Amino acid sequence: MKKLILILIALSYISVGCTQKKLDETSDNQPVSIIPLPQKIEMGKGKFLFDKNTIIVASQNEMQIAENFASEIERFAGLKLKISPEKPKSNFILFSIKENEKKESYKINSSAKSIEIEGSDKAGLFYALQTIWQIFSPDFYNKNAKLQGDLQFPALKIVDFPRFGYRGMHLDVSRHFFPVEFIKKYIDILAFHKMNTFHWHLVDDQGWRIEIKKYPKLTEIGSKRINREEAHWRKRDFPITGDTTYYEGFYTQEEIREIVAYASERYITVMPEIEMPAHVTAAIAAYPFLSCSQKQIEVPSGSIWPITEIYCAGNDSVFAFNEAVLEEVMELFPSKYIHIGGDEATKTNWEKCPKCKKRMKDENLANVNELQSYFIKRIEKFIVSKGRILVGWDEILEGGLAPEAVVMSWRGIKGGIEAAKSGHYVMMTPGTHCYFDHYQALPAQEPLAIGGYTTLEKVYSYEPIPEELTAEEGKYILGAQANIWTEYMPDGNHVEYMALPRMSALSEVVWSEKSAKNWEDFQKRLEIQFLRYQNAGFNYSKTTLKAPLNLPK
Ligand code: ACM
Ligand code: ZN
Repeated sequence: MKKLILILIALSYISVGCTQKKLDETSDNQPVSIIPLPQKIEMGKGKFLFDKNTIIVASQNEMQIAENFASEIERFAGLKLKISPEKPKSNFILFSIKENEKKESYKINSSAKSIEIEGSDKAGLFYALQTIWQIFSPDFYNKNAKLQGDLQFPALKIVDFPRFGYRGMHLDVSRHFFPVEFIKKYIDILAFHKMNTFHWHLVDDQGWRIEIKKYPKLTEIGSKRINREEAHWRKRDFPITGDTTYYEGFYTQEEIREIVAYASERYITVMPEIEMPAHVTAAIAAYPFLSCSQKQIEVPSGSIWPITEIYCAGNDSVFAFNEAVLEEVMELFPSKYIHIGGDEATKTNWEKCPKCKKRMKDENLANVNELQSYFIKRIEKFIVSKGRILVGWDEILEGGLAPEAVVMSWRGIKGGIEAAKSGHYVMMTPGTHCYFDHYQALPAQEPLAIGGYTTLEKVYSYEPIPEELTAEEGKYILGAQANIWTEYMPDGNHVEYMALPRMSALSEVVWSEKSAKNWEDFQKRLEIQFLRYQNAGFNYSKTTLKAPLNLPK
């Protein structure tokens, strides 16, 4: 019955007129259901009817988007539309770019005569297409569906732009590895939600996943661990003897280029994360000279805590290594932001290491926090010399922040507040609202997760600009992102389940106006979103919609 109701709701949104050719230009249109909610929607009267004579009008600048539009219309409605630079009197879809100060923005103005789509840039036009697909029908997302009848589009006016310029989704590919095909699907899911940054967590203790030509052992050794997949993440004994099969995987530089290009075609920047000085057990297993003790260690198969085997901060060869790695990374990733991790270093080895102690003395550093700050500042100098910007988890505040660093606030919001107050840019991703590895419904109903409890409603309630900031300080908040740590997510299907529909909620947090957010209305729009997910073949949680906001005591 529930399914039938959903189908009926969906049908009421499908712009298909099977028999009538003459359209009533006076009747009001039903509201459209779009996530993230556009800034302004005004429904008009009447509809635009696509037919084989409809012309797509575009100049060279808009050609890529126009061709994308044409091929999707052919796939879905079987209409092969002509693209022309000349605008006819009627029956056309016009794409144009008019630069303005609101980047990634677009307007759609449709009537029975035409659909006019104006973007501030190509990204704006791309987001206009994402909105148009949602207006067509949930069926559009089924790549095998063929529209029966005519394709229509309601008369309306949409003015839309993102609230934040940074709209991110992270994915940890170290704890579990995901093939290129899944990474592309993940990027498709981001584009669907108008997210613009894929934060790719390529390095961690349990696997180094990016090919570095100068240091081949990083992947020869560091991308492999003894396979203990059948055991609980926290109960995988380390080191392991007797086991001989490996869990492994890494991305070649060629694959990385392919993924960066794929993302770029969807107006998504890939921000790589290369962890340091901790979360690098896999790198030390490959090159023991990187640690203070220089002892041979193994790539762990599961949890290690605390993380004491970290890069030596007193050894110049460690900096030469990191600079050479980052040099190759920056060749592969055009992103202006380069994430260097910086989180969760237990610095007990630094306190004992003669080289680290000498460094502290030589550089006049009072303690190991200042030594970590020295480490990050030295790496920042290198990143800045290449014209890029360093991003780090909020631990990089400890011991003094590097001059131009951007802080990613994850241990709540206080790191973000401190950074913004000192004039540093911030990306917000507090564990309370943005950790999508947490349970999204009552644990008893859910697959095993790391813990925590972050429901859809909690994500939806998130406000990225802390109230502790003045309006001026608030400008340092670039936006927000959610993190997907994959200790308990062995495959892509599971990642999708944890990401969706929470990504819908986050998309509204970072795109729509704060004052326009409405949980009741969002839940209604989500019913249509679920049909889109189903048709697109995205796995998603149904339980989170009804989950209590907080765990019962
Ligand atoms: C983190 O969750 N360790 C950034
Ligand atoms: Zn050391």
